[in-house]
Parts: sequence; C-alpha cells; structure tokens
Amino acid sequence: MKIQMYKNPALYDACTAHKINDIPFYRHWAIKTNGTILELACGTGRVAEPLLDKKYDYTGLDLSPVFIDHCQSKYPEGEFIMGDIRDFNLGQKFDLIFIPFNSFLHLYTEEEMTQCLKSIQNHLSENGKFLLDNFVPDPEFLYRNQDKKHKEMMINHPEGGKCTIWQKNQYDEDSEINHIHWYFDRGDNGEQDEYKFDMRMIYPDTMDRVLSESGFTIEEKWGDYDGEPFDENSLLQLYICS
Ligand SMILES: C[S@@+](CC[C@H](N)C(=O)[O-])C[C@H]1O[C@@H](n2cnc3c(N)ncnc32)[C@H](O)[C@@H]1O
Repeated sequence: MKIQMYKNPALYDACTAHKINDIPFYRHWAIKTNGTILELACGTGRVAEPLLDKKYDYTGLDLSPVFIDHCQSKYPEGEFIMGDIRDFNLGQKFDLIFIPFNSFLHLYTEEEMTQCLKSIQNHLSENGKFLLDNFVPDPEFLYRNQDKKHKEMMINHPEGGKCTIWQKNQYDEDSEINHIHWYFDRGDNGEQDEYKFDMRMIYPDTMDRVLSESGFTIEEKWGDYDGEPFDENSLLQLYICS
C-alpha cells in the first residue's frame, strides 16, 4: 500500500524517535533570543515539545492538516497553524524562527526557497535570529546502486512489531532532486507499505548565495549542533542568520 508519512503522526514519530541530538541546539537559541518562537514545518511537534515544556511562546506552522490537528490537541499551550512555508502571513514578528531537520529540502526550486526566505524576513523581529538545518549532500548516498534496496533504519512500528525500512533512490543531477522510495518490511512476508518522497539537494555554496541574495546576514555557520565551525568534512549545514 502507498502511504503518506506526513498524514500519519504515529508513523512519523516512530521514524524520527532517534532524532534528539538537535534539541539542545534549539533550546540554546531559545534561551539566547528569549522571545517569541516560530517553527516552520513543525511536523508532529518533535521540537515544539521541549520548548513548550520550558514555557516558551511557541508557534508552529505546517502544510499537513493532520499534523497541525495532532499538535494542537497534544500541545494546547502552543499555537499551531496550517500554512505553506513558501508563502505565509501571520501578522506577527518573532524573535526566533527556525526550520529544523532538512524540511527546507522540500522546497524544490530556488524560486520556492527565495519565496520562503522573503516570508521569513517579513516575520523576523529587528534583532531576531533565523536558524536553518540542512544536511550536506553526500555523493556516496546519491550515486549508490539505484536498483538495490539499502537498509535505512529499524523502527518500532506503531501497529506493533519491529519494521525494517529499506530505501532506493534516484538522483536527478539537472534538478538536483533526489527521488526517494521507502519500503516498510514488517518481517511477515506481507505486502510492504511504500512511501515515495523527494528532497532537493542543496550544496553549501548554493545555500550561502540564496540566503545572501534574499537579504540575510549569515552570522555563523556551524557543521554540527555543538558549534563546530562548518568545514569540508561537516555533515550538516547549520545557519545562524539575522
Ligand atoms: C522532516 S519533517 C520535519 C518536522 C519537524 N520540524 C521535525 O523536526 O521533526 C518535514 C515537515 O515539513 C512539512 N512541509 C513540507 N512542505 C511544506 C511546506 N511547503 N510548507 C509547510 N510545511 C511543509 C511536512 O508536512 C512535514 O511536517
């Protein structure tokens, strides 16, 4: 069966249960900016929860109505709004705006990226900070055998039991879009659920340029969540912008 990850909060949470290493990073910047927070592409509230726990004034925006309903009922103290990060108008400024965990890679053209960055500028307070977290495209991953299923991860499936996720991908160099296909193997020889999605690969020089051309100042660029400066060995591109 074909599934949509962004319509299934329990499955999304199962697939991202391992992802906790960025939480201290967002807490750090929440403390530093000490004001209103806007998370773009907030998902199921993975980052919202630890910030709401600390009583921050938090708003999350996401395209998925299912995720927004899920967040609003799970975290009534936060504000969750359905919207598109390429074009939004909340009529409010924020002291901290961020896009975690590669969500920006769901913008497939430079035009979409620029539209999103313009909307962010309209919502950033004068001394506000904008944080962006994208991985660095890895040629070993992009150019591996397209016909083979590669093991991606094991999860505890929300419907019970362990599940192995296998992945195939096909990278289109012209569009710089990686077409990804996941297969959910629950070890029961039954029909495997399948999930297809695309991610735009954004190389560090492109991201630097698009941010600068959109009027942002890149104050710092880290290569990991501990604050190591970005270099050619970094796996992440973490931007701290004003
Ligand atoms: C990788 S998840 C990240 C969720 C959450 N921020 C986290 O760190 O766990 C990507 C999210 O982006 C959302 N999304 C994709 N395209 C979007 C768009 N154009 N506008 C708003 N949200 C979008 C999806 O619905 C999904 O919740």
